[in-house]
Amino acid sequence: MRKIAVVGSCNTDMIVKSKHLPAAGETILGGDFLMSAGGKGANQAVAISRLGGNVTFICKIGDDVFGEKAMHLYAEEGIDTSNILTSSSHHSGVALISVDDNAENSIVVSPGANYDLLPEDVEKNKALIASADILLMQLEIPIETVMRAAEIAYENGVKIVLNPAPACEVPESLLKKLFLFIPNANEASFYSGVACKDNDSVKNAAGIIHSKGVKNVIITIGDKGSLLCEDGGFKYFEAIKVHAVDTTAAGDTYCGAICQALSEGRSLDKSISFATYASALAVQKIGAQPSIPTRKELDNYMRVKHLI
Ligand code: RIB
Repeated sequence: MRKIAVVGSCNTDMIVKSKHLPAAGETILGGDFLMSAGGKGANQAVAISRLGGNVTFICKIGDDVFGEKAMHLYAEEGIDTSNILTSSSHHSGVALISVDDNAENSIVVSPGANYDLLPEDVEKNKALIASADILLMQLEIPIETVMRAAEIAYENGVKIVLNPAPACEVPESLLKKLFLFIPNANEASFYSGVACKDNDSVKNAAGIIHSKGVKNVIITIGDKGSLLCEDGGFKYFEAIKVHAVDTTAAGDTYCGAICQALSEGRSLDKSISFATYASALAVQKIGAQPSIPTRKELDNYMRVKHLI
């Protein structure tokens, strides 16, 4: 089976449901509280593993109860944890998440040990990255670390997929190395300078990002689906209509699922379709990792929709 390496973050999510997201200076009473595993890197690694992939996760946890719990969880998920490092000076990453009645969220991350994952840590895992087929990353770790991992991958012909979240400055030298760039509409606005508010502006944004040297760009547009921009032009993929309760980690499920489908030899179009169904399942449950479907769940869902 082809190998996927994920270099990224690991968090513990503290989630509170509320009618609406609090405005600045506002205190509101929320509903249920859930503490569960999260972090964009970890969510994407878990998605790949649950969907049947061979994944190695490189991240840094703190020497604390959250880090310890995360290690156990990844091992239970069948993820290779031999490259998970422990920071002696930083706490494990934590995310405070509010989810409203429309399933939208707002997230504040305290990165802690995620920001202690340094280029030299990636250097120690050079052979692992070089021998992978796909390298998947996000931006909850230092950009220098992302760049070093990308250099190693690029020199060794490994396909690099970047989910540029949260949005931050990304050098064009990195963009030029990417096989696939997957921002959401907000992030695409940041990277293109175009406010993504309708089909035309999303298309415009994707074209601008593509012209910076990224081979393929996919902009995810929530319940409106996603747009692919590749050399041959643009293509829209509709979202599946479902009753969403929490969109947290829908994008992570999408990114993990795309990489898994690509690693199985599917085309980009077919991989997008696979990922669209995976994320439609994820939004129907609360929490990040608790919402990520297994391969069996996804296959059953696609079978019901007569897709397999
Ligand atoms: O994408 C969702 C994730 O963002 C959450 O799990 C949270 O930890 C933050 O990293």
